[in-house]
Amino acid sequence: RRKIAVMTSGGDSPGMNGAVRAVVRTAIAMGHDAYCIYEGYEGLVQGGDLIKKMGWEDVRGWLSEGGTLIGTARSAAFRQRYGRLAAAKNLVINGIDGLIVCGGDGSLTGADLFREEWPGLLEELINNEEITKEQAEPFQTLNIAGLVGSIDNDMSCTDATIGAYSSLARICQAVDYIDATAASHQRAFIIEVMGRHCGWLAVMSGVSTGADYIFIPEKPPGEGWEKQMCDIIARHRKLGKRKTIVIVAEGAIDRDLKPITSEYVKKVLVDVLKLDTRVTCLGHVQRGGTAVAYDRMLASLQGVEAVRAIVNAKPGSPSPMIAITENKITRKPLVEAVRMTKGVAEAIKNKEFDRAMKLRDAEFDE
Ligand code: F6P
Repeated sequence: RRKIAVMTSGGDSPGMNGAVRAVVRTAIAMGHDAYCIYEGYEGLVQGGDLIKKMGWEDVRGWLSEGGTLIGTARSAAFRQRYGRLAAAKNLVINGIDGLIVCGGDGSLTGADLFREEWPGLLEELINNEEITKEQAEPFQTLNIAGLVGSIDNDMSCTDATIGAYSSLARICQAVDYIDATAASHQRAFIIEVMGRHCGWLAVMSGVSTGADYIFIPEKPPGEGWEKQMCDIIARHRKLGKRKTIVIVAEGAIDRDLKPITSEYVKKVLVDVLKLDTRVTCLGHVQRGGTAVAYDRMLASLQGVEAVRAIVNAKPGSPSPMIAITENKITRKPLVEAVRMTKGVAEAIKNKEFDRAMKLRDAEFDE
């Protein structure tokens, strides 16, 4: 009988509750004990009431709740060794040797580092007489599995992250609302969407709403983009379009890595095309609210797979990240996926934009 814990970490995303529910119920259905760690890594470090054994009923109705009901926090302590020592002690005390983390690349990196350090952490706890050798004995390895929860859809080696399609749906709905008022006044709207270093939300919402122009970090526009953008918009207007929608990803940059701000794009439209222009920054509305059906399904199927991965883990095998590849739930090496994801940000920083795009699409080659 295993004791398997689940936690959510980093920015919340719609569908995280569905993932927690699936982990808890799958673990119980397979005859194991299920635990939730509240408030992300902070709960692991502080222990006590923040580590709670869960029953079947405890997660009733969670599929249709937004945010994360078990909380999330950015833990400064877990980034330090003393914090990870406290976390290891709390897991041993509670008898937990399987940990499922649902979060973005930063949270999953933290999880794998913890697994790697595990034997050393146990040794230090024994030397410090915080736990006994006998207590540590059954916990020689810590099994970790990663679930990717992020609205940004920014993780390599998976087609979708939990929450991305919900956020996309919310953005499309907001743009539909804006369309109505924009067309009424024949206005232009610059709509700023989230996505930190990733343009997925901007591209997909642009395609889904028929936007006139899109700015994303991975593919900055070439020199003289202002004229190109204005020419396109002027053409659309000539064809009878009564409104203009430009979508700007929050991390949009030009080829010199200078941010392309919504205010600057607005100024160009006003100065060159004399369009009555407004800026709407959608902000956290994109992240809250309930999950769309796709994210509920993804979270449920991946939650089941994460528990299976923990239960079937072979000693010393690398931690898996639960992915979706061409509509199939798959397992990918967590460390590789995180490395490839970080590679995209690196490539952008080095102005290697073609490489950034290739890495975004790349599959881990087994
Ligand atoms: O990673 C998810 C995300 O929503 C990004 O799109 C955004 O840049 C960031 O989190 C915002 O973070 P916070 O909620 O801490 O302001």
